[in-house]
Amino acid sequence: MDQIKLARDLLDKSLNPLFLTGAGISAESGVPTFRGENGLWKNYRPEELATPEAFRRDPAVVWEWYNWRKSLVSQKDPNAGHLAINFIQERHPEMGVITQNVDGLHQRAGNKNLVELHGNLFFARCVKCNGIVEYQDYDNNSPQCESCGGRLRPHIVWFGEQLDPEVIGRVNRYLQKTDLLVIVGTSGVVYPAAGFASTVALRGVKVIEINPEPVIDFALQLKGGAGEVLPHLSG
Ligand code: OAD
Repeated sequence: MDQIKLARDLLDKSLNPLFLTGAGISAESGVPTFRGENGLWKNYRPEELATPEAFRRDPAVVWEWYNWRKSLVSQKDPNAGHLAINFIQERHPEMGVITQNVDGLHQRAGNKNLVELHGNLFFARCVKCNGIVEYQDYDNNSPQCESCGGRLRPHIVWFGEQLDPEVIGRVNRYLQKTDLLVIVGTSGVVYPAAGFASTVALRGVKVIEINPEPVIDFALQLKGGAGEVLPHLSG
């Protein structure tokens, strides 16, 4: 049986499949990944752009970078990989989709039960009152909170920051319940997401990995791009 057929079979038999995605699922939409040849972290320094210290030092530079990414992503569309998840969710309506991505493409594709681990480019959060607002201005590099006048920051989890406890709670419930974890397009270096595969595998849960360069040795590896492989699991 070939790998795709095996994966399709596992998905058909699964009662509670769960997806975990990373930047690779958006690669075929034209959104750059972080690592690898043309990755964002090859050309930009995370400590200057994606840490609370960087924001305290120079909020305008940090906003400029996020505004640029927001503008870039707003010109891209979900690809066949995102859309295939909709079809899989028709068969598995309870299926969760945990993403490390902040590009909003899962929502735009119509995926349901989404958990955004690292925030969302199209939201901002007040550093004073913690209010979260939708924020789509591509030019303003010093936005302020309309409620309290505090400084707004991108609603993104930066290096050195903890994930939102409510988000962690939802993730843990999905991880405890799942009987099949499908991991798409992540290099598996950023925790806690990097630990999800081993967490579920410890209780015998099967893991499928979709990636042109798979990294999880105990997974059923489907080597290829998300937009190419996922439609084979959704049809
Ligand atoms: P990475 O850039 O680290 O990894 C992208 C992965 O996608 C690699 O394993 C690629 O092989 C794979 N890939 C490339 N093209 C693909 C395709 N067409 N289909 C499927 N996979 C493909 O991105 P993440 O693992 O998501 O954090 O990075 C994790 C976190 O690190 C991000 O959420 C971000 C970053 O710092 C924050 O911004 C907080």
